[in-house]
Amino acid sequence: MRPTAVPESLVRAGRRRALRPAAGRDPRLGIREGSAGVTQKPDAAVAWLPRGEWGLLRVAFVGLGLMGRGMAANLIRAGHQLTVYNRTPERANALAALGARVASTAAEAARGAEVVGMCVTDDQAVEEVALGSEGVLSGSAPGQLIVDHSTISPEHTRRLAARAVEAGAEWVDAPVTGGDRGAAEGTLTIMVGGSEAALEHLGPYLTAIGRKVVHVGPSGQGQLVKLINNLIGAIALAGAAEGLWLGRLGGVSLGTMIEVLGAGSANSVSLQLLADRLARDDFQPGFSLSNRLKDLDLALQSARALRAALPVASEVAELFRERLARGEGQEDQTVLVRRYFETKDSSATERC
Ligand SMILES: NC(=O)c1ccc[n+]([C@@H]2O[C@H](COP(=O)([O-])OP(=O)(O)OC[C@H]3O[C@@H](n4cnc5c(N)ncnc54)[C@H](OP(=O)(O)O)[C@@H]3O)[C@@H](O)[C@H]2O)c1
Repeated sequence: MRPTAVPESLVRAGRRRALRPAAGRDPRLGIREGSAGVTQKPDAAVAWLPRGEWGLLRVAFVGLGLMGRGMAANLIRAGHQLTVYNRTPERANALAALGARVASTAAEAARGAEVVGMCVTDDQAVEEVALGSEGVLSGSAPGQLIVDHSTISPEHTRRLAARAVEAGAEWVDAPVTGGDRGAAEGTLTIMVGGSEAALEHLGPYLTAIGRKVVHVGPSGQGQLVKLINNLIGAIALAGAAEGLWLGRLGGVSLGTMIEVLGAGSANSVSLQLLADRLARDDFQPGFSLSNRLKDLDLALQSARALRAALPVASEVAELFRERLARGEGQEDQTVLVRRYFETKDSSATERC
């Protein structure tokens, strides 16, 4: 068993900060007392980790895009010792200004870290970041926890988890919901797939970036729940776009529509998001259209693996694909609404 050397400065910082409660007792962690409480013996593989006695960890974070930059900033604010890596180096400058060390490869960032978080685009990006010649696993040490916040396929996650075990590390899928705003404000909802022991160790890390943490099952299940969340959100967004457009065709103002729909059974996060974007005429990316379509396609792929048909999701995916073909992939997902609002007698009406 390897003891963890915690620098005196961190111990002092921890004392000053009024230590966080041990993970198993933190009410924000969605685990039942007794199932993964602090009394449970942890896995031998991760037993040397500090388990929140100090509440402060040596953390590496890879991927400082719209989501990752906010998460990384909150890890620093919580007092964790942070090293960051981003493929495009300039994106790490803002984190360096907050006190993060900047590594020049993912492997260098991971070396010596107790926890490695990552938030990159898709299956391929996670594979490169994890398994590449300068990837996280080549800098891993036994007992390290690798926490993937990217939204990727459950099947790929299980393969990566097996590779992590071969390297002596443990993979935890921890995709998030709450958008770039939730990432910046530390209010994300986090769906965890992995062992209960890992979740227990990750308490001080996860509570720095999220408000609600739920252990949904073994490896890959966090990703499945996330894909279901996004599938429902995508359908709701398409429904909101169609409904608002119908109101406009019928001569009802956007303000009136939102006032009524927002107070009734049609209300949803997607409706509010779309209404806000339309009111401000602002389609700067918060969640890109290409990522939205990626998640829908992943949900359809998981459905095929489970021999399930998802007819509504399939149709909505095609609506997003039309916009992607117009070169709008890097714009916000809500540009879907242009399909309706920018057309008078276009395909939108033809389809009716
Ligand atoms: N935005 C949201 O509202 C939201 C909400 C929940 C979940 N998510 C999920 O979170 C993940 C990240 O989303 P995001 O919005 O932050 O995306 P983003 O702004 O496009 O950032 C993507 C990040 O991944 C890095 N990356 C991509 N491919 C890479 C590769 N091959 N090797 C190394 N790094 C690579 C990018 O590096 P560069 O800077 O070099 O390009 C960047 O740091 C996605 O899986 C997304 O589905 C997003």
